[in-house]
Amino acid sequence: MAMRKKNGMRIGVLTAGGDCPGINAAIRGVGKSAILEHGMRVFGFSSGFLGLIESDYRELVEDDLSGILTLGGTILGASREKPFESSGITEYIRSKPEQIKQTYRDLRLDALVCIGGNGTMKTACKLADEGLGIIGLPKTIDNDVWGTDQTFGFDSAVGIAAEAIDRIHTTANSHRRIMVVEVMGHHAGWLALYSGVAGGGDMILIPEIKYNEEVIEEYLKRRTAAGKPYTIIIVAEGVKIPKLKSSAGRYVARLAAKATGLEARETILGYIQRGGSPSPMDRILATRLGAYAAELISKKQFGQMAALKNGSIEAIPLKEVAGKIKLVPVDHSLIARARSIDTNFGDKV
Ligand code: F6P
Repeated sequence: MAMRKKNGMRIGVLTAGGDCPGINAAIRGVGKSAILEHGMRVFGFSSGFLGLIESDYRELVEDDLSGILTLGGTILGASREKPFESSGITEYIRSKPEQIKQTYRDLRLDALVCIGGNGTMKTACKLADEGLGIIGLPKTIDNDVWGTDQTFGFDSAVGIAAEAIDRIHTTANSHRRIMVVEVMGHHAGWLALYSGVAGGGDMILIPEIKYNEEVIEEYLKRRTAAGKPYTIIIVAEGVKIPKLKSSAGRYVARLAAKATGLEARETILGYIQRGGSPSPMDRILATRLGAYAAELISKKQFGQMAALKNGSIEAIPLKEVAGKIKLVPVDHSLIARARSIDTNFGDKV
């Protein structure tokens, strides 16, 4: 398809932080819309902010953006490079922000789309303060970016974790065991809450709700006494445990075995949750956010993050987003509904 008009703008795209399903759909959304709708040229940077520092990029033409909608990971590569922190992956004589600005100038960029999570939005905001034309796109399986109702990657991860919990159910039933499933989420329990509810977990432990070991023990004993053949516990990796040496999942499994005398096993889902093809809903969200980013650039509305708000895609100033995190409110309606069907959150029986 030929581009409609040539507006002469040149934009960069990078993907920073941990990867997740839907990033390529977002790159495609930004890129195709930028090229085809707005007549821009698009340059993709390798490995997050590292590519900007090292001036490692390639032009993305329409062909590069075809066939990537359903692809997991990121065609650009990602890194956790934080250019405003001195202890990044690489050290340079010149400061990294200066090198970034140099690359931006050398390439005669008008804008830079930063696809990432909380850390990326913080860096993006600082680069906007330095005078670059920045647009942020929120992605992460953790769903903890402030200012958007949902990040892409989350829906896919919920699906993967829920399917795993379904599978755990059948083996738990066969062996009459307590099964603990640890899902990702260092600070926020969105993934544990949603996958736990979707998978019918009996107990869900999230960082936002302080659990009480006695409550866990009493709940498990009550289930055993009631003749329940097995119990499924979903634990967010960021749930606080006394010893850092063990994972949260292992700690809870040991606690459960000790309390009941039953066998308990833990399964840590790990990076499986971040890999593979995005769900249809993530493909749609990433496409909407990406195309909207190109529109914001065409209107020169910089220093913004594209966000999902009550079903619409809107812009929110990066200044409002940077440095914040969206945790699960303890009075979230899903928690209340789950409690009403006897799902336990480890805080009260
Ligand atoms: O992307 C967010 C996240 O998936 C967290 O839930 C997880 O703890 C973290 O990334 C781990 O990522 P990495 O090992 O790549 O730093």
